[in-house]
Amino acid sequence: MGFALQSKEELVGVFSRNADAYRKRLDEAMRKGQAAGRDQILDHLKPRPGMRILDLACGPGTLTIPMALELGGDGEVVGVDLADGMLAAARQSIAGRSLPVRFLRMDAENLQFQPATFDAVGCGHGLHFLPNLGRALREVRRVLKPRGRFAASIPPPESAPSPAAEAYRAVFDHELGELPAQPALEATRRTVNDLDRFQAAAVQAGFRLVETELVEVETTWDGPAHYAEINSNWWSYASRLEDVEPDRRRRILDKAEKAVRDVTGEQPFSVTSAAHVLRAEA
Ligand SMILES: C[S@@+](CC[C@H](N)C(=O)[O-])C[C@H]1O[C@@H](n2cnc3c(N)ncnc32)[C@H](O)[C@@H]1O
Repeated sequence: MGFALQSKEELVGVFSRNADAYRKRLDEAMRKGQAAGRDQILDHLKPRPGMRILDLACGPGTLTIPMALELGGDGEVVGVDLADGMLAAARQSIAGRSLPVRFLRMDAENLQFQPATFDAVGCGHGLHFLPNLGRALREVRRVLKPRGRFAASIPPPESAPSPAAEAYRAVFDHELGELPAQPALEATRRTVNDLDRFQAAAVQAGFRLVETELVEVETTWDGPAHYAEINSNWWSYASRLEDVEPDRRRRILDKAEKAVRDVTGEQPFSVTSAAHVLRAEA
């Protein structure tokens, strides 16, 4: 099961099972302004009282909650995701708080909303998981009001990983094999990994004023142990560890942490994270 990432269900299963760790990492990254691309989404959508906003592939509410805080009780943010674990983590984050938010289980490629429902739609690091990107973009445009704003981020291709990332990944690749190919996502990845193609896909879906941009942010880590702990819960590593028996798992994690330490030393360090960001209007 750990290696099966071939269907939507298998992919969102990994997200569900690692939702709490993902929330912890993203809460920290958002607090430090280090969640690449997410600030640009908030800047473009400009949430304000009275707006209805959709957060697509919302995860644990990374963007949903900051958006809702801007509404001042007037308006609504709807977060949709396919992973039940992510939705549970998101609901837990708002428990006891009076925020104008709903979290719904929904496929981003098949939105259950009437046309022209939302003033703005955001999608943080979600589009690259959608096999039919064109369909998802047309859905976003359909549910947006005329001139409604859309912004999305994706992690960029792994062409230039940091030395720490390379060292960590090399241990996983050696011990557990490389991450399996995901043929259903290849076309989408080819598109979003190329800024011109990403822009063209949004234009083709009917958006106007489409811009794409590479943004970079320095991400700080307390040291190799912090880096290794957070990475072990990242979907691409967590999926490979799922069926590994505890002793071997511990050995692999120790080895991966040591590989990072050999590169960075014991002290805090930073790496550059990047994102592709798309901004558009319906
Ligand atoms: C990397 S997380 C991003 C979460 C959050 N938006 C953020 O900015 O941190 C990707 C999310 O996409 C969700 N996802 C993947 N495929 C989906 C689909 N077809 N429909 C809705 N959500 C999906 C996953 O469950 C996961 O929560």
